[in-house]
Amino acid sequence: MTPIADLETPAVLVDLDVVERNVASMQARARAAGVRLRPHAKTHKAPQIGRMQIAAGAAGLTLAKVSEAEVFVDAGLEDLFLAYPIVGADKARRLLALADRARIAVGADSVDGAKTLSDVFHAAGRRLPVRLKIDCGFRRVGVPPERALETARRLADLPGIALDGVFTFAGQAYGGETPEEVARIGRDEGRIVAETAEALRAAGLPISEVSLGSTPTAALAMTQPGVTECRPGNYVFNDLSQVTLGVCREEDCALTVLATVVSVPAPDRAVVDAGSKTLSTDPLRPRANGHGLVVGRRSRIARLSEEHGVIRVEPGESFRVGERVRLLPNHSCVVSNLHDRLSAVRGERVEGEIVVAARGCVQ
Ligand SMILES: Cc1ncc(COP(=O)(O)O)c(C=O)c1O
Repeated sequence: MTPIADLETPAVLVDLDVVERNVASMQARARAAGVRLRPHAKTHKAPQIGRMQIAAGAAGLTLAKVSEAEVFVDAGLEDLFLAYPIVGADKARRLLALADRARIAVGADSVDGAKTLSDVFHAAGRRLPVRLKIDCGFRRVGVPPERALETARRLADLPGIALDGVFTFAGQAYGGETPEEVARIGRDEGRIVAETAEALRAAGLPISEVSLGSTPTAALAMTQPGVTECRPGNYVFNDLSQVTLGVCREEDCALTVLATVVSVPAPDRAVVDAGSKTLSTDPLRPRANGHGLVVGRRSRIARLSEEHGVIRVEPGESFRVGERVRLLPNHSCVVSNLHDRLSAVRGERVEGEIVVAARGCVQ
């Protein structure tokens, strides 16, 4: 087997030992909470890793876009929830084609949007399973809980869809300044979506799925009464933001970027061959602080150009030209989407490649 030292840089490394541990521990958590795990596969966009999650016990996978679902269905994954407000007859026609080959449900947060799906499915004599998105405080998409009943009733009247659940996502947890704040957001996420589901059921609507979750909130959100499904994504790789939020330890991070120091122009500055086209420009959460940590050191990437990562060298540390370093990026999900292939490693050995088959699938 090839040693990591033989890889050309920059290269994205995924440590399979760590992935397997992360997959198993989140699955164990869901099992203990009595909820189904439906990992968000946007983190890896790789059917190969999706299959590992299913083999460990996941009920299916979550994705956002129809084109991602097409890639995953082609790869044999057949129970998918698109946790995104899918809108448009073009998308509906593609979903209709997929619905013959897989179990697909989608999100909606408006009657106007859902009607574009309903028309196509109704004309084909079919019904598309739909879950109503509830806003639990992120203020991105979703209806506020107090408007959920009115929207749900109108969705339930559309003939080409079958409203069967509610879902939410507490993305505000990524701004949580303390682990206590993240925990509170997780508990609220569970309580709000479960209470909303209960109110819809009390009004006679057939709400069976109550879905939530992100990597920071999963542990607490999934244990709230009434929750049926959890959708964390990032946990499979983790990243420097999860470490900074207190969600995991550095050794729980599976994805790193192998880079070469190409210049040391000053004692306090070293430059690696991984810039924004390798690492992305996503900021560190919950507070911006550079663009990644050099593993085993205190120095960080302070600045990025497209092909340069500028390390601010901490006092007492030094780098030399030609040296290889491993970088822990701020946000692993966007890193995998920047690369066609990731190197699967165990320790210092390369085991093979992970094809990021749904890379760039944004439609
Ligand atoms: C709707 C939805 N569900 C689940 C997730 C998974 O969250 P995370 O990657 O934080 O685990 C995301 C992440 O963006 C999301 O947008």
